[in-house]
Amino acid sequence: MSTRPREITNGVSSVGVQDWDRRLFDALIPLPDGTSYNAYLVEGTDKTALIDTVDPPFLETLVDQLAGIERIDIIISNHAEQDHSGSIGPLLEKYPDAKVLATPKCRALLLDELHLDAARVEAVEDGATVELGGKTLEFIHMPWVHWPDTMVTYLREDKVLFSCDLFGSHLATNELFVRPEGPAGEERVHEAGKRYYAEIMMPFRKLIQKHLEKLDGYDIATICPSHGPLHARPALIVDAYREWTSNTPKNIAAIPYVSMHDSTRQMIDHLVDALTQRGIVVERFNLEEVDLGRLAMGLVDAATIIIGTPTVLTGAHPSVVHAAYIANALRPKAMFGSIVGSYGWASRAVDQITDLISNLKLDLVEPVVIKGAPREEDFAALDVLADGIAAKHREAGLLLAADGEPTKPGAHG
Ligand code: FEO
Repeated sequence: MSTRPREITNGVSSVGVQDWDRRLFDALIPLPDGTSYNAYLVEGTDKTALIDTVDPPFLETLVDQLAGIERIDIIISNHAEQDHSGSIGPLLEKYPDAKVLATPKCRALLLDELHLDAARVEAVEDGATVELGGKTLEFIHMPWVHWPDTMVTYLREDKVLFSCDLFGSHLATNELFVRPEGPAGEERVHEAGKRYYAEIMMPFRKLIQKHLEKLDGYDIATICPSHGPLHARPALIVDAYREWTSNTPKNIAAIPYVSMHDSTRQMIDHLVDALTQRGIVVERFNLEEVDLGRLAMGLVDAATIIIGTPTVLTGAHPSVVHAAYIANALRPKAMFGSIVGSYGWASRAVDQITDLISNLKLDLVEPVVIKGAPREEDFAALDVLADGIAAKHREAGLLLAADGEPTKPGAHG
């Protein structure tokens, strides 16, 4: 772990830390690649600003990097979540002349969470600026990325956007910038960024569309997010966000499922084949082993979500209940859905799951929930379900033939 600041551009340094070994965030989100807590020092001719801090266990690593910095005038808190704000209190003690700048909502959260001295925390309005001497910082309010308090900070002279959690990735690396390839290569960061978007930003997709429009008005050369490597080619992540937040899903059916005695698995096997024959791309997630981040990524683009569940004590399997709850909270852009599965003597799984995913407002194609192991007529019902999904995709213009034109009914190619 580097304990030395790393220069981004003249007068702008990275003073964040890598958390290589963390494997869970919010006691919920898997971190297969660790994460980082990025903080930045901006030094003008008159004043010095620190943008965000680090998760409290890493305070000393941040302080090490500030050795030689005798005065910090401003601590900018783009977001009150403790992985970025948690070290502000000790830094206010170390730098007695520093004041904190934050949105009004962030200020309130900082006072509640960290019990900071209210006199040292000032609210800044959208569009406000501070002059550091040759460095002008502009505050751009961007609520709900992913808390109500968030803002980003733009350094005008150097065209640097300190983007808070927006455009971030949970990826520990000693590479400062995204590279064309390697440990912080574009492909890897794109995937880590998609995972991050899916887990954290997707519920606020519509608002983020507006934020992207707002950022169109800024000339951005470098994006410095709060997690993961920095972007010297902003288009990589900005264009990806445009695609992920777009209103149009892809010709994909995401199928999270679990099976206890193989009946539901046989149904899923048949359904996957049937959808494949009809030209629909399938992403299949066995909930016995899938990590939730991968499932969330699968929901980013899917037009259809089909949930497969056996029945346990007349309800859906608890792993399916958990996944359905998560999907409902993440609010992906899917348009269509269905439920398949098997029960022994009675089931209310369909009503239960329908309630659990009510946020998604899916156009539900008739579920196929059967008694016992599947028979020929059950596989035929799954074919009808696949026909129904294909028809929905075709009507929505998602199911394209090789020539790029919408496919015709009956063309199962
Ligand atoms: Fe990385 Fe929302 O804190």
